[in-house]
Amino acid sequence: MKGIVLAGGAGTRLYPATKAFSKQLIPLYGKPMVYYPISVLMLAGIREILIITTPDDQPLFKKLLGNGSQFGIELSYKVQERPEGIAQAFLLADEFLQGEDACLILGDNVFYGQSFDRILREAIQTVETKREAVVFSYFVRDPERYGVVEFNEEHKVISIEEKPKHPKSNYAVVGLYFYPGDVVEQTRTVRPSARGELEITTLNQVYLEKGRLAVQTLGRGFAWLDTGTFESLHEAGEFIRAIEKRQGLQVANLEEIGYNKGWISRDDVLSAVNQYKGSDYAAYLLRLVK
Ligand code: G1P
Repeated sequence: MKGIVLAGGAGTRLYPATKAFSKQLIPLYGKPMVYYPISVLMLAGIREILIITTPDDQPLFKKLLGNGSQFGIELSYKVQERPEGIAQAFLLADEFLQGEDACLILGDNVFYGQSFDRILREAIQTVETKREAVVFSYFVRDPERYGVVEFNEEHKVISIEEKPKHPKSNYAVVGLYFYPGDVVEQTRTVRPSARGELEITTLNQVYLEKGRLAVQTLGRGFAWLDTGTFESLHEAGEFIRAIEKRQGLQVANLEEIGYNKGWISRDDVLSAVNQYKGSDYAAYLLRLVK
């Protein structure tokens, strides 16, 4: 399984904060936002990751993340010229994927919860053994802002709609998607929506119609945080701050994850400590290896 982080988009809702550079680079408490979705892919055990950005932002992402070896992963980069939909990520990733299974995560989605790595592993297993796509739903107050799933009495998904005016449930589809190797081929059948985008929801409908879509619900003990407005961005930062202060453990510290997975050595961690000397991030990493 290979991973894709989609970090394109103009981020106009956060203007002027995102006028000069991508939303996914602005800090969420102690780290750039894109660290959080990368951490999810790493927790899933995915090491080959494609970062899709706007043309202007690509050099900044490269400056921040390099080739990923400092985290024990392999990063490549691709430009999305215009924001023409989430599903376009798979057309852009065709060469990168080479027909392999794919996990796509949106660069502004933040997840936090117990046993998340197990949930991720199970999703990968479903893709590998059943050749089904796996998406996740989450109960929210304002489903009309998202893709929305409708379930029958047996909790089987019967429909998915993108930003419906009259949502059929409160279950939003989160920005984390797992697909089998035919995802590029299936995406080629997707036609642009009224707003001119290749919608991820249309792709999910394709899999649903073929009886190949599994929807897992992330329960109440789980946090899927929004970063789409200043209000929600601030709240997400406060959430991370509260957890980190209480436990003294960091969320989405990429060197820590790479180290715990055995992908990087103690010396690699120490070189990050040296590079980030003077920061809390470095002090944390030093404690980790001491
Ligand atoms: C996108 C998807 C939507 C999904 C959401 C998750 O919405 O189109 O189906 O629920 O991401 O963050 P957008 O970010 O384009 O508003």
